[in-house]
Amino acid sequence: MGASPSPTFKNCSSSLSFLFVFLIVFGSSAFDFATSAEEAAALLLWKTGLQDPHARLASWQHPSKATGPCTWFAISCNGAMSVTKINLTKSGLQGTLDGFSFSLFPNLEYFDLSVNSIFGAIPSQISQPSKLVHLDLSANNLNGSIPSSFGNLTNLTYLNLCRNFLNSSIPLEIGNLSNLVELYLNTNNLTGSFPPTFVDLKRLRFLYMYENMLVGSIPLEIGNLISLSHLSLYSNNLSGPIPESLCDLMNLTVLELYRNNLSGPIPENIGNMKSLVVLNIMENKLSGPIPISIGDLSRLEVLYIRDNLLSGSIPEVMGDLMNLVVFRVARNNFTGHLPQNICKSGRLNNFTANGNRLSGRMPESLRNCTTLYRVRLDGNQFTGNISEDFGVYPNLDYINLSDNKFYGEISHKWGKSLQLTDFEIAGNNITGSIPPEIGNLTQLGLLNLSSNHLVGKIPVELGRLTSMVKLILNDNQLSGGIPQELGSLTELEYLDLSANNLSQSIPSSIGDFAKLHHLNLSKNKLSHGIPIQLGMLLQLSVLDLSHNILAGEIPTEFSSLLSLVTLNLSHNNLSGVIPSTFDDLHGLEFVDISNNQLCGRIPNNKALQEAPVEALQGNNCLCGNATGLLPCNNSLREKKHKSRTGSKVVHIILPSVVGAIVIACGIYITLLRRNKCEQTEEGDMQPKEFELRTISIFDGKLFYEEIIKATEDFDDAYCIGRGGFGSVYKAKLPLDNLVAVKKLHTPSDGEWSTRKELLNEVKILTEIRHRNIVKLYGFCSHSQHSFLVYEYFERGSLFSILDNDEEAKKLDWSKRLNIIKGVAHGLSYMHSNVSPPIVHRDISSKNILLDDEYEACISDFGTAKLLESNSSNWTAVAGTFGYVAPEFAYTLKVTEKCDVYSFGVLALEVIQGKHPSNLIGSLLSPVIREGKMLGDLLDDRIAPPTDIVLVELTTVFKLAVACLHENPRFRPTMYDISQIISLEISDIEKGQVER
Ligand SMILES: *[C@@H]1O[C@H](CO)[C@@H](O)[C@H](O)[C@H]1NC(C)=O
Ligand SMILES: *[C@@H]1O[C@H](CO)[C@@H](O)[C@H](O)[C@H]1NC(C)=O
Repeated sequence: MGASPSPTFKNCSSSLSFLFVFLIVFGSSAFDFATSAEEAAALLLWKTGLQDPHARLASWQHPSKATGPCTWFAISCNGAMSVTKINLTKSGLQGTLDGFSFSLFPNLEYFDLSVNSIFGAIPSQISQPSKLVHLDLSANNLNGSIPSSFGNLTNLTYLNLCRNFLNSSIPLEIGNLSNLVELYLNTNNLTGSFPPTFVDLKRLRFLYMYENMLVGSIPLEIGNLISLSHLSLYSNNLSGPIPESLCDLMNLTVLELYRNNLSGPIPENIGNMKSLVVLNIMENKLSGPIPISIGDLSRLEVLYIRDNLLSGSIPEVMGDLMNLVVFRVARNNFTGHLPQNICKSGRLNNFTANGNRLSGRMPESLRNCTTLYRVRLDGNQFTGNISEDFGVYPNLDYINLSDNKFYGEISHKWGKSLQLTDFEIAGNNITGSIPPEIGNLTQLGLLNLSSNHLVGKIPVELGRLTSMVKLILNDNQLSGGIPQELGSLTELEYLDLSANNLSQSIPSSIGDFAKLHHLNLSKNKLSHGIPIQLGMLLQLSVLDLSHNILAGEIPTEFSSLLSLVTLNLSHNNLSGVIPSTFDDLHGLEFVDISNNQLCGRIPNNKALQEAPVEALQGNNCLCGNATGLLPCNNSLREKKHKSRTGSKVVHIILPSVVGAIVIACGIYITLLRRNKCEQTEEGDMQPKEFELRTISIFDGKLFYEEIIKATEDFDDAYCIGRGGFGSVYKAKLPLDNLVAVKKLHTPSDGEWSTRKELLNEVKILTEIRHRNIVKLYGFCSHSQHSFLVYEYFERGSLFSILDNDEEAKKLDWSKRLNIIKGVAHGLSYMHSNVSPPIVHRDISSKNILLDDEYEACISDFGTAKLLESNSSNWTAVAGTFGYVAPEFAYTLKVTEKCDVYSFGVLALEVIQGKHPSNLIGSLLSPVIREGKMLGDLLDDRIAPPTDIVLVELTTVFKLAVACLHENPRFRPTMYDISQIISLEISDIEKGQVER
């Protein structure tokens, strides 16, 4: 601190005082100049080990005597020119803390290095600047342990180590930091237990330790943390009970203990936490009743207790919670009635009690609860007349009342809840007809009225529901024809009208459901022929028309249903021969054509030939190579069906495949030739047989030979994949280092030697260290083989994992979000932190590798560029079909925005679990664009996301859609994306109230 004269000096006589001041100023400046110079030198030394792609540290140059380092970027000093503050947040710095001489900064009070790419361990010398008050190392790549020397920084009021990869237990010594007000250790890999010493941190207001791997129980004395206002411990493995003493925390506003293994009851005196606004204890194993004292939490806005083992009734006093906005008690064992005054706050918007054993009628307050936005009461035993117990909800987006005992008719008033996107009352005792006013709900994406007793016709007004994605009316007694008007539901993906009394013919407008993938019209009285327009449903994977009275032949147009997996045409009056174009339905797995009047040879289709007897029986005269069928009599004249549409499809697909092969071969051949010529012409290259261009930690020549030896001269046995650029081999180097070797299709290219900037780029690539970029160890250009050597990933590519059901199931939502985040960070880094920016050009799920922790790593950075020569043919190599930005087709110009587009495709692929090829076009539809139907896109091989995760997924989904904008200028940058993803998700992490 500055040596300003203290008041005592001013009381002295003037001459004495002058002398004193002189001495002090002189003395201190002499002393501080030394300190200042030392500090400047220490900063410069540290700078030499840092990568600073944005040249933020440009001002860190020879310090002048007059100002020392004090005028440098990010540095502040005290009056005596000693550094007090270093603020380098978000500076894009890369490097370690090893070169930072903490001991040389005696006056440092404030040190902020957050949001950089600092890696390696935190040195224990971090405790040397003993005046440190504020220390922020969050959002870096730090790993290793938290040094116990932190306990010496007793002046700290703020300590933030969140969002790194720290993987030790938390040192008990942190409990010594009695001045701490904010402590953030969340989102690391910390192990061990909640340090019991923390209960001495009497000033602590914010304690975040969520998203770690902490075990053991919450200390019984947690109630000693009397100043605590935010306690977030979610997503750990904490067990044992919620300590009673927690309820002594009168200042606590946010308590988040969700996603742990906590058991036992909710403490009786929970109502003591009078300041509580957010209480989230969902997804634990808590049991017993909700204590009555909960009614005392008068400030409570958000209550999540869903997914526990709680029982008893929901206390009537819930109605006293005058600020309640979110009330979610789903999937427990609650019984009894809902509280009468559940909506008394006048703010309730989120109310879910599904999956309990609740009964009785709806509370009266619910009828006028106009604030409701999301309601789930499905899977209980509620009763009452549905037309009397519900009102008009101008804000309601989602309501599910399925699987209860509601009766009565569907009121026409539902047609006034105009924001509804999801309306489900399946599995009740609803009678009467479907009111035509439902047709007013133009936002509706899902209507499920199945398994009731509905009668009458399907109102033609439903044709106005142009946002509809899923329409489910099966298991009722609906009659009349299927209205032709339904054809305007062009967003429809799922239609189930089965088990009704529908009659007449299937309308031809059914061909307008271009996105339909599930169609079930079985168990009706539909007659006449199957409309040929069915052949236009190219997305269809399930088609069930069984148990009707359909007649005529199976349309040959069926051959275009290339997505078909399940086909049931049984129990109709279909006749004639099965079209031979069925040969092309390679995806077909389940087929049932039994009990018709089909005849002739069954097509050469595996599903038919391997079908069980029951699936073929009851026909006239089927024959062929399948169990239960007689072989065909050769003299039997078969009608040859050759479908027009069928052959068209084949023609469209074949040329493109053949074309691709031809182009690829063309390039390959030209290259070989060109290289041959160049090798003979280029005299200076010839003599050096081992002209290696290797920039790596290995010795060049040796490296080359090691690789050749390790792969037995690129023997196929070591090949682990083939891609556009070349084949990949697994090689085990001495010392058991596994590496992936990508042998380029092209042998050494003479041009490379003249392209210095390319070698420069390789050099840059080998120097990149980012956790989401696959490390490039080196590059060899040799007359025989050219190859790149990369870090090896046992788990393989994202593509191979998503493609394998077993593996895909292990990729839960948080892992998937993390993969998307990782790719975004990696791309953002290469676009914004590397200068000049490096564009990948070929982002696809095959280029995303996953490490043991399922962290995403982008491989093949720069390969596309590396392979590009002046010849324009080369550009054709870049990019994988289905990921390439549309403008690339006509501009052939590669910009960062091409990667952004591919990232968008990739993000959707991770969400859907498969390439979103057909979804991309449909994203122009408003209902999907708004993310409302995200739920229907989610990969259903894994459990549905929790609500919090769903919020994150929605953010990612919206970003992905923005990335697919036709015009590259309107796509966000990867930097924006990675910022938004981090910010959005950290907002959620910080427990902000959901609205
Ligand atoms: C630290 O630096 C960032 C940007 O460089 C700035 O926005 C922020 O206000 C600074 N913080 C303090 C406390 O000086
Ligand atoms: C912490 O302080 C104690 C006592 O002052 C000292 O013995 C110890 O060496 C210090 N540790 C570090 C790492 O500075």
